[in-house]
Amino acid sequence: MSICGLDFGTSNTTLGTIEGHAPVLAVLEAEYTTIPSAIFYEVDGAVLIGRRAIEAYVDGAPGRLMRSLKSVLGTSLIDETTRLGRERTSFRDVIAYYLGAVKRRAEQATGRELRDVVHGRPVHFVDNAPDADRKAEQTLQQIAREIGFDDVTFQFEPIAAALDYERQIASEEVALIADIGGGTSDFSIVRLGPARHGKADRSADILANDGVRIGGTDFDRQLSLGVVMPLFGFGSAMKRAGLDVPSSYFHDLATWSSINRMYEPRVIADIRQVRQEASEPALIDRLVRVVDEQRGHTLAMEVEDAKIALSDQRRADIPLEWVAPGLSAAIGRPDLVSHTGQLADRIAARIKNCLTQARLAADDIDAVFLTGGSVRLAHVRNAIKKAVPSARIVDGDTFGAVGKGLTLEALRRYGPRD
Ligand SMILES: Nc1ncnc2c1ncn2[C@@H]1O[C@H](COP(=O)(O)OP(=O)(O)OP(=O)(O)O)[C@@H](O)[C@H]1O
Ligand SMILES: [Mg+2]
Repeated sequence: MSICGLDFGTSNTTLGTIEGHAPVLAVLEAEYTTIPSAIFYEVDGAVLIGRRAIEAYVDGAPGRLMRSLKSVLGTSLIDETTRLGRERTSFRDVIAYYLGAVKRRAEQATGRELRDVVHGRPVHFVDNAPDADRKAEQTLQQIAREIGFDDVTFQFEPIAAALDYERQIASEEVALIADIGGGTSDFSIVRLGPARHGKADRSADILANDGVRIGGTDFDRQLSLGVVMPLFGFGSAMKRAGLDVPSSYFHDLATWSSINRMYEPRVIADIRQVRQEASEPALIDRLVRVVDEQRGHTLAMEVEDAKIALSDQRRADIPLEWVAPGLSAAIGRPDLVSHTGQLADRIAARIKNCLTQARLAADDIDAVFLTGGSVRLAHVRNAIKKAVPSARIVDGDTFGAVGKGLTLEALRRYGPRD
């Protein structure tokens, strides 16, 4: 019977166990220790997770792809059902299936039965809604028990990342931990040091926590709405003066967790009606094509790929030839900044809150530890650096720091147990 740390992310998931005295992430798919938080329900009833789920969808297998499932926690959608193959399934059960499969894979990879878990959680699943936040954690707690865990406790994701970082420092410091993921951005200010690492109670070392429900998927949405959706009719006029094509379709299509809503027969019928009354029906034809062929995730992935490419290139193409001959979009870094700069500023604004909570000035922060995929966005990094200009920047294990830290926390809380 073993302990583990589980980082169920909006975009990627990891699970760590203790080997010797160190946290080691289990191999969850092929040779990878990270697995995309994606699940594909084939029409014939087969269910795939991770990269294989995404590949099946991209290859055109008939079925439904689900991503960003964590975003549904704490919202009313969690108990809503969606049509997957012949049946309707609740989002809650989809998450349970996914996490159950991850647990089984980790058990296979490590040869151990996993019984006790420290589960990661963002500082806020939902902004300014303590009840929804509690409900989100309760849902994860119930799911964890249902899939076979006995002891289930939670730790904030940035605190977990701090524990991972603490293993590499030689002297005491006050660190700002920034975990900028797919769905949330979280910050903690923590007193760290080799002498503190083994202490049983670290609560006095945690000086502040704050977070906001903004992550990479929101950057994808804003980029899509700014650059791609106008090519599909977003912002175009209806024949009746003063009216635009309804914007809700474009918001749903640009938002990972609501793409599947577009495939409800009622929505498709409505869009066809809108086409009749649109002043530029050729644009709506493109929308109809994407919805009819259920290619919403393909579009979202192309936007995400372009965003990622801009981390080390100046320009990126979004290939749209498959929608209409000759159609394409290109984005440059300035476009990315103009469409998502506000999000970066809103993320960095949480640092001020943390400093106030901790009663510290920006200059009191010795180091900033960066983790999470979205720290690769240059304007996000710059916004964070600007808030604590004198701090040393430390790049952590982008996709593994939280999972390893949760595993260290499991060792501290439960002991080795096997
Ligand atoms: N090189 C890159 N440049 C920009 N963004 C990137 C890059 N690589 C990954 N991302 C983005 O990082 C996000 C995923 O990061 P990560 O795996 O840390 O999130 P997560 O842990 O699943 O989410 P959360 O912690 O918010 O629940 C995605 O939105 C992805 O597009
Ligand atoms: Mg994360």
